[in-house]
Amino acid sequence: GGKPTTAVIHADAPGPVYNKEIFTQFAEHLGNGIYGGLWVGTDSKIPNTNGFRNDVVGALRNLSVPVIRWPGGCFADEYHWREGIGPQGERPVKINTHWGGVTESNSVGTHEFFELVRQVGAQAYVAGNVGNGSPREMAEWVEYMTAPAGSLADERARNGHKEPWSVPYFGVGNELWGCGGNMRAEYAADVTRRYATFIKAPAGTKILKIAAGANVDDYNWTETMMRVAASTLDGLSLHYYVLPGGGWPPRAPATGFDESAWADTLHQAWRMDELIARHSAIMDKYDPEKRMFLAVDEWGAWYAQDPGTRPGFLRQQNTLRDALIAAINLDIFARHADRVRMTAIAQMVNVLQAMILTDGDKMVLTPTYHVFEMYKPWQDATVLPIDIDTPTYAKGQYSLPAVSGSAVKGRDGKVHIGLSNADPTEPNSVTIALDGVAARQVSGRILTAATIDAHNSFDAPQAVRPAPFSGAIVKDGKLVVTLPAKSVVVLELQ
Ligand code: AHR
Repeated sequence: GGKPTTAVIHADAPGPVYNKEIFTQFAEHLGNGIYGGLWVGTDSKIPNTNGFRNDVVGALRNLSVPVIRWPGGCFADEYHWREGIGPQGERPVKINTHWGGVTESNSVGTHEFFELVRQVGAQAYVAGNVGNGSPREMAEWVEYMTAPAGSLADERARNGHKEPWSVPYFGVGNELWGCGGNMRAEYAADVTRRYATFIKAPAGTKILKIAAGANVDDYNWTETMMRVAASTLDGLSLHYYVLPGGGWPPRAPATGFDESAWADTLHQAWRMDELIARHSAIMDKYDPEKRMFLAVDEWGAWYAQDPGTRPGFLRQQNTLRDALIAAINLDIFARHADRVRMTAIAQMVNVLQAMILTDGDKMVLTPTYHVFEMYKPWQDATVLPIDIDTPTYAKGQYSLPAVSGSAVKGRDGKVHIGLSNADPTEPNSVTIALDGVAARQVSGRILTAATIDAHNSFDAPQAVRPAPFSGAIVKDGKLVVTLPAKSVVVLELQ
């Protein structure tokens, strides 16, 4: 192996809570993200409950998905909620202009979304239409969803749901700098103030308003939103996708890539650390008390669509490389948990860096799914700061820290440690001092595979899955871990 890694976990100086909302998932009307992937309809032969597939919902329940962001994305800024309520057969059929130009049946509308939220056991993050909708349309949607009384509440009851729903998170549009209306920052900030004014929570309830935030490193956007609109907002978003090879549209394949693409990708994943630090620093200027949160509500890898898949559907395989992206990001969010109190991976099913892939009645869990499952103890845990001194892993022009990690004290009272090794060939020996933890024993699980692009297919759905890990011991009060090449390990101290 190469140079070893040393680290210190400061359990005696605990940090902020690692909000469970960091594990939010984004589900857009895009490709088979909703239709086929989640919704098959009540008449389908695929086993379903009120139209949503039992296999996928079961897998999502197993992840304890805290929040679902819906209906977009770009889709949100041309979505008209009235087209998605009332009898299924009477809803207008539209064209999904952003994603493939396919027809949108509006079969999944507000009532169906909340049925999904209920089945998964999650909460709702609804994105409103600022792009081509009016403040009135947005306000009435919020009223339709949340009002206990009045004619919109009566209409909701007639459509099958008497009780108001809870909408803890509401997005004031999406990517207003792009598909949400191509606005300049100043204008978007004014529009955001205006629309946010009319989003009103019924007495005794709360709706946190999240503004459409910056694209990657557009610090001027964050500066302007904070300066102009902060007082009307609770959160500000940030979107950052990993695009190996760069360029648009994304061209790098999701599988069959070489080590250079692996290193490029993981190097880009690490960039999230700097992006959050710099956007947070701007927020600190205007909001030193950290009343507002940064919501990284779109993150993940964006590759070329898989060969033979429908254009505009953003369907991509998910490999061990994606598992590393997920682990690196979840660790980064731990370091910024004071400001980053929500994030949403893009996306939930069949789109971009998905948790789950489906094909007809078949379903497969991706390596990313497994990392989210392994990191479940992080949900609402307390961050334990960890200093890591690790060698650099380099390939060609790309270099990044070999080892990433984070530690938490879980709601179960136990210390959980995540470690991943980006080096695809060299194991790394990690020695961790445990300040303030009296550990006797350690157990763990590992996610790894023989090749850097190992993935789960419908023929081999278990090719990449967590296995018991015996490469860690507690010795002289320290944790000593032999971290295999290209692996994600999660440990639990006893
Ligand atoms: O996640 C796919 C798209 O990426 C979203 O619709 C949009 O917000 C972003 O550009």
